[in-house]
Amino acid sequence: MARRKKVYEGKAKILYEGPEPGTLVQYFKDDATAFNAQKKDVIDGKGVLNNRLSEFFMTGLTQIGVPTHFIKRLNMREQLIRSVEIIPLEVIVRNYAAGTMSQRLGLEEGTQLPRPIIEFCLKDDALGDPLVAEEHILAFGWASQQDLDDMIALALRVNDFMSGCMFAVGIKLVDFKIEIGRVWEGEFQRLIIADEISPDSCRLWDMETGQRLDKDVFRRDLGNLADAYTEVARRLGVLPSNV
Ligand code: C5P
Repeated sequence: MARRKKVYEGKAKILYEGPEPGTLVQYFKDDATAFNAQKKDVIDGKGVLNNRLSEFFMTGLTQIGVPTHFIKRLNMREQLIRSVEIIPLEVIVRNYAAGTMSQRLGLEEGTQLPRPIIEFCLKDDALGDPLVAEEHILAFGWASQQDLDDMIALALRVNDFMSGCMFAVGIKLVDFKIEIGRVWEGEFQRLIIADEISPDSCRLWDMETGQRLDKDVFRRDLGNLADAYTEVARRLGVLPSNV
């Protein structure tokens, strides 16, 4: 059988050409990276867990009318997705201060924010994905005002959904990152959620103990990353049988 054509390889995922025009196959690797790939490791089973968890969140979002790129899971490590034109911005939603926001503003990690705060970072590894203002986004044409309004609305809906999912299983959604893509339907363009939603791109804290159940376990050497992700999957009822 002919090998599939690789379209793109990132730090944690590979994209292959899909079976139909306008589709791609997204493969979840076990590679973990942090601090712009300065710290690297391979975590057995991480790709399988993130494939399942991203399926769970994207399917739930679709059910409540939030459009995503997810079509279906194909196997343990792969899912079929819609091909999109990725907007070159990482959209971060924060409910509690942590990570770079705590460093930047001198806020203690865990401080509840007055309301969800949305930040944009330019997707540029060479620059370390710098925080950018809406002024930069509009002036440099990375997105239009309409795109920005749509991205903020999408991000807040994802936040409501994800916060609820997590609250129900005793986990606080501290913050998360999403990526958004453009699809064309006839002459109309629509923005949809792309990439992945998984503990790689969220901060998840146990509500009782404050235990970290996300990639900070790897970033900060707090224990076994696969165990943390398995705990999230177990609580959400999406644990694959052979992990
Ligand atoms: O590092 P920082 O505090 O800015 O991260 C905010 C949130 O965005 C965290 O949940 C982190 O996992 C996520 N993030 C990400 N990919 C990046 C930067 C941040 O998933 N490149």
